[in-house]
Amino acid sequence: MDIAAAPHVLPGSCDFTVFGGTGDLALRKLLPALYHRDLEGQLPEDYRVLGVSRSDLDDEGWRAEVRAALATYVDPSDLYEGAVERFLGRLHHLMLDAEDPGDWDRFHALLKDRPQPEEAVRVFYLAVSPTLFGAICQRLDEIGVVDERARVVIEKPIGHDLASAREVNESVGRVFDESQIFRIDHYLGKESVQNLLVTRFANTFLEPLWSSHWVDHVQITVAETVGVGGRGGYYDHAGALRDMVQNHLLQLLCLVAMEPPTYVGRETVRDEKLKVLQALKPMTPADVDHDTVRGRYVAGLVDGAEVPSYADDLRPTVGHGHGSSTETFVALRTEVQNWRWAGVPFYLRTGKRMDRRASEIVVVFKHPPHPMFPNAEGVTTPNRLHIQVQPDEGMRLHLTAKEPGPGGIRLRPVSLDLSYATAFEQRLPDAYERLLMDVIKGNPTLFMRRDEVEAAWTWAEPILQRWSASPERPEPYPAGTDGPTAATTLLERDGRSWQEPDR
Ligand code: BG6
Repeated sequence: MDIAAAPHVLPGSCDFTVFGGTGDLALRKLLPALYHRDLEGQLPEDYRVLGVSRSDLDDEGWRAEVRAALATYVDPSDLYEGAVERFLGRLHHLMLDAEDPGDWDRFHALLKDRPQPEEAVRVFYLAVSPTLFGAICQRLDEIGVVDERARVVIEKPIGHDLASAREVNESVGRVFDESQIFRIDHYLGKESVQNLLVTRFANTFLEPLWSSHWVDHVQITVAETVGVGGRGGYYDHAGALRDMVQNHLLQLLCLVAMEPPTYVGRETVRDEKLKVLQALKPMTPADVDHDTVRGRYVAGLVDGAEVPSYADDLRPTVGHGHGSSTETFVALRTEVQNWRWAGVPFYLRTGKRMDRRASEIVVVFKHPPHPMFPNAEGVTTPNRLHIQVQPDEGMRLHLTAKEPGPGGIRLRPVSLDLSYATAFEQRLPDAYERLLMDVIKGNPTLFMRRDEVEAAWTWAEPILQRWSASPERPEPYPAGTDGPTAATTLLERDGRSWQEPDR
């Protein structure tokens, strides 16, 4: 059965296995997300969370680790002793050496050790190095625990380039049907990102404006204040283009640019996103030189505190770094070459150790076609829709208004503000809460399909190739700033400028 075609209903029973159960992702994101959904009573009546790792822990040992993780990562106002204990009671741990067939037999026995094991939906979340994806899937197949309702969840990086992404997809695809593979891009689970779909497709007022007729350009910024921390080993081989642009920023671009699907669900959204990825202007080497900027942070001040350079950040994990050409910042200009967006630049930018943490999409509209207030004082700025992805999720529409007062006309920019926190007055769930529930229910809408991942690599690869062939190195920028000056020039030469968040 194609699970993507099945109705998305909560199964009565579920075994949610986390490979890498003691790792950072599991403890920081997955277990807290499951706890929250348990708290809301949304998980299947009969469910277990099975942590699999190389750590020598029994159930109680793992529960103690998870209890500590919940205390760290869950807001104290959401921690209820009884609820925590009930949740911990669902948890079991198995120490597993992937090379040891006996351990896999024990895993098999654990899955069978429940009432009506054949009824339970099995989720296998591979929170481990992508190099293990293929081997784990093969073992799961060999021990006979992959039935038609099983599903596997994998995280980026899905490959390092197109060829390696295909290899990962092939190896997982040998065991699981595409409809059973859930590739997470956690940006798609963010409330504000999902709301972008609702804003575009549950309202009518934007649609007539949403094209090259009225949109001047689009900016997508994902700025972080953090450095690479303890992830230097991974990051130095990835860089900002692979780590952020090839996935998160392109997914945001897709949601802005996609055509309305016939309805929001199943394959329709993914079909439309794929068309956007396929319409991205291919980058020639000359385009890469002209339309992309790479940067790398050097020591500076973030939030008033001194922070080291990227090279120094790498020292504990990688031990070198001065010679590496890994970028921690990217800005680029691209276009979506289709009827709706022809000629409209999409500027993307992301970086670590920037002056603020802010992810924002800004749609900048054209100037009015004719100056109707020739004698007015003040300035007319183009209308802009700011979609604030994080923090302070919300939307702002910038308009030009008349400043109150007699006499002549004085123009002033004002904004219509929608703050999620004020409008809804409720906790905004973490992206993983939504995505894990979708996995359990078998709803693939917010996950990346194989062809999407490969189309994104097809577009990104020429950039990586040109950069690695070029003698130029990323431009240094002091930590705590808005990136290298070339990023400013990228827009200035088009007569535009980056829109900085103004709240
Ligand atoms: C991850 C990247 O996918 O996203 C990290 O690997 C990055 O480098 C993170 O810090 C950003 O996610 P968020 O949700 O904090 O914006």
